[in-house]
Amino acid sequence: MAHSAAVTKAVVPVAGLGTRFLPATKVTPKVMLPVVDKPAIQYVVEEAVQAGLRDVVLVTGDGQRSVTEHFGRAHHLEARLAARGNERALAEVRAPAELAAVSCVRQDAPRGLGHAVLCAAGHVGAEPFAVLLGDDLIDPGERLLARMIEARRRYGGSIVALMEVPPDQVSAYGCASFKPTDDPDVVAVTDLVEKPDPSEAPSNWIVIGRYVCDPAIFPVLRATPAGRGGEIQLTDALRALATADRGPGRDGGGVHGVLFRGRRYDTGNKQDFLRTTVEFACARPDLAPDFVPWLREFLSALPDGQDGPDAIGRQLP
Ligand code: G1P
Repeated sequence: MAHSAAVTKAVVPVAGLGTRFLPATKVTPKVMLPVVDKPAIQYVVEEAVQAGLRDVVLVTGDGQRSVTEHFGRAHHLEARLAARGNERALAEVRAPAELAAVSCVRQDAPRGLGHAVLCAAGHVGAEPFAVLLGDDLIDPGERLLARMIEARRRYGGSIVALMEVPPDQVSAYGCASFKPTDDPDVVAVTDLVEKPDPSEAPSNWIVIGRYVCDPAIFPVLRATPAGRGGEIQLTDALRALATADRGPGRDGGGVHGVLFRGRRYDTGNKQDFLRTTVEFACARPDLAPDFVPWLREFLSALPDGQDGPDAIGRQLP
C-alpha cells in the first residue's frame, strides 16, 4: 500500500552545548562552526532542500540566535556589499536566506534528542516529517533522504538510516536489529537500543542522523521516560514503534531502515571534524589545486614513524 501523505517538513535539532569544541563554542553554536567556509548547519539545510523539504524548523537552545539569523536576511551587510559592488559576496550572504522557509522553536532545557523533536510537534502537526541531525553530514550524491522518503511512501511508518560500523563503535550510537524485505536496501527494524554496551548490541548497524518519522511518534515521545544519559531518547520512542505488537506505539506503522553504504561525515568530535574539513577542502575546485599539493608536501615532510605532536618539529600556539 502506498502512503500518500507527503513529507514536506524537516526538523533540525541544534540545541547541543558543543562542549567538545570549547572555547570555540562559548558564544558560537557548534553547528555554526565552518567546514571550510560554510557553517555545518547550512550543508544540512541544503540537504533537506535537495530532498524537496523547504519547510525547515530549527530546534534551538540558549544563545543560538545566530543559527536562525544565518538563514535570514542581513540587510546591513547586504547594503555594504552592494555599495562596494561585490556581487559574489552578496550572493553568498543571500543564499542561506533564499534556501528554504526556516523557522525556529525553542527547547528550554537540554532534555535529549527525543525531547527536542517533541518541541517541534506544534509546527509539524499530523504529517510525516524528517529529522536531520546537525552533526552528521551526508554526501549529497547518496540521495539518502530522498531514498528514505521513498521508503516511507512504500512502507509507511517511520524510517531510520542504518550504517554498518566496526563493533567497537556501536556504544556511541543507536543500534538496530532487523529482518530483510524484498528490497535489498530496505530492512524491517525489529529492535533498537540507544548506545548499547558492545557485548549487548543487537548488531553492528548503527542509526545515523537522518530519520523520517510518522506523527505517531509524538504521543509515544510524550510517554517515553528518560533513558540513556537521563535524557528522552528518540531511539527509545522509535523502539516502541518498531516493537508495537509487544508494547506501546500501536498504529505507528512500524519502523523500516534504509541501508546506507556511502560517506557520512561526523562533525561532532574533533578528529572527525578535522578529517571532514580536509576532505571537503580537497574536493573543492577553487581550493584543491593549491591545497592538495601543499597537503602532500606537508605530510611527506613529517618524519617516518613519528605520529605524536613532535613530528611537526615546532611549537604552535
Ligand atoms: C544521536 C542519537 C543516536 C544516533 C546518533 C547519530 O546521538 O541519539 O541514536 O546514533 O545521534 O549521530 P548523539 O550523537 O546525539 O549522542
